[in-house]
Amino acid sequence: MQQVTFGLIGGGTVGGGVHQALQRNGALMASRLGIGLTVAKVAVRDLTKARAAAIPAGLLTDDWRGVVQDPAVQVIVELMGGTTTAKEVVLAALRLGKPVVTANKALLSTHGPELFAAAAKHGANLYYEASVAGGIPVIKVLRESLVGNRLISVHGIVNGTCNYILTRMKLEGAEFADVLADAQRLGYAEAEPSLDIDGHDAAHKTGILASLAHGFWVKPGQIHTEGIRGISKLDIQFAARLGYTIKLLGVVKQVPSAKRGRPGPCPPIQVAVYPALVPDTHVLASVNHAFNAISVRGDVVGDTLFYGRGAGAEPTASAVLSDLADAALDLKHGSHNRVPCFVAHSGDGCVVPMDDVVSRYYVRLTVVDRPGVFARIANLLAKARIGISSIIQPEGHAGETVPVILMIHDAPNAAMKRALAQIAKLSAVKDAPVMIRVEPFE
Ligand SMILES: NC(=O)c1ccc[n+]([C@@H]2O[C@H](COP(=O)([O-])OP(=O)(O)OC[C@H]3O[C@@H](n4cnc5c(N)ncnc54)[C@H](OP(=O)(O)O)[C@@H]3O)[C@@H](O)[C@H]2O)c1
Repeated sequence: MQQVTFGLIGGGTVGGGVHQALQRNGALMASRLGIGLTVAKVAVRDLTKARAAAIPAGLLTDDWRGVVQDPAVQVIVELMGGTTTAKEVVLAALRLGKPVVTANKALLSTHGPELFAAAAKHGANLYYEASVAGGIPVIKVLRESLVGNRLISVHGIVNGTCNYILTRMKLEGAEFADVLADAQRLGYAEAEPSLDIDGHDAAHKTGILASLAHGFWVKPGQIHTEGIRGISKLDIQFAARLGYTIKLLGVVKQVPSAKRGRPGPCPPIQVAVYPALVPDTHVLASVNHAFNAISVRGDVVGDTLFYGRGAGAEPTASAVLSDLADAALDLKHGSHNRVPCFVAHSGDGCVVPMDDVVSRYYVRLTVVDRPGVFARIANLLAKARIGISSIIQPEGHAGETVPVILMIHDAPNAAMKRALAQIAKLSAVKDAPVMIRVEPFE
């Protein structure tokens, strides 16, 4: 049987998981593919480190360059993380014409165009199924399975840490800071949690999904990004009373009504990450804890949903093995760039500035409980041509100040920001207004 030999650069959580999964299912994969997959070497930083997943000492090396350059190693699997050495690894392999598998969303987000250009120039494939949503095979879905569709919208819960925190806040009625501290203790959140809770990790993944869906590279700077630090127990509870669940969403959708955006052959698209009120009737509202899910709407297929574990050694290894199988089959059949990813089938694309994006909103104001306050707030919104669909003053909040919830009709983001800045200046309005978008999924 034909053998394909690969080198793992990184033997940590994912690298160890890949090695173990191949031990378990390598023979099964060989029988399915007609190709045997063999690990030649595993490059790590510290040869003496104790590893959760045992890797035979004879496979370990601390010389990644030696692995990349070894003529017997046909495929390089980059699982070291980071954007500096990892970039060197990937470029060195591609320049040698070797296919590369990576799980590194930060690397793709930061250096994607350069890496894909190098892959094209040297006739080598770059595979990245594990870079978005761990074990969920969403890259292949967008790149291949839905190739006959115009992708109208992609909504993803793609950061397990944020989803874990928001789920516990809702189920336990707990505050953000308390759940975050507990998540850090349990290993669901990093000691330095900013990458996750400020939305950057979700933005890396959302940019990759947007690029795949629309055929042009979406630069990180084009992705409006908000995290979940500002979400309070109160907002989660009020949203629940109104029939919504707050989720951190990566959103990629066509914006037919955008006012601005570069005219061109492509419809303008919104690419953003923000916490949103998801109707409890939508399936994404019930994606809980560390699970991920991506809902994709195509013009031919309609609505689809992909659900599973977005991280962890085994789910991520599953995605890496899928890429390894593709790499082995492509090597066997001599196919390069079988399904081109970033050809300009949508021209250069146009990402609509967030200020121009029209959304619905939940707004919570803390106001002094006296007559005439509502009228002044409504007046400022009317002047900004922003329509209120309902005003709710939840009961059981007697005191000097009370919360008031405004549900706002479709309005451009810039107009909302300006109107809320004016409302915040009213003497009767205490605390900064809270504004959370409502995602209607229409
Ligand atoms: N963990 C997940 O659930 C998950 C999910 C999806 C995607 N990913 C992505 O997968 C990648 C790997 O994540 P991970 O969680 O497996 O990381 P990890 O546990 O920290 O493992 C990183 C590995 O890379 C090795 N390494 C680091 N610098 C090196 C160098 N200069 N030369 C050789 N080896 C080096 C480390 O060696 P030592 O072991 O000696 O320190 C370690 O084995 C990242 O891009 C991450 O974003 C992870």
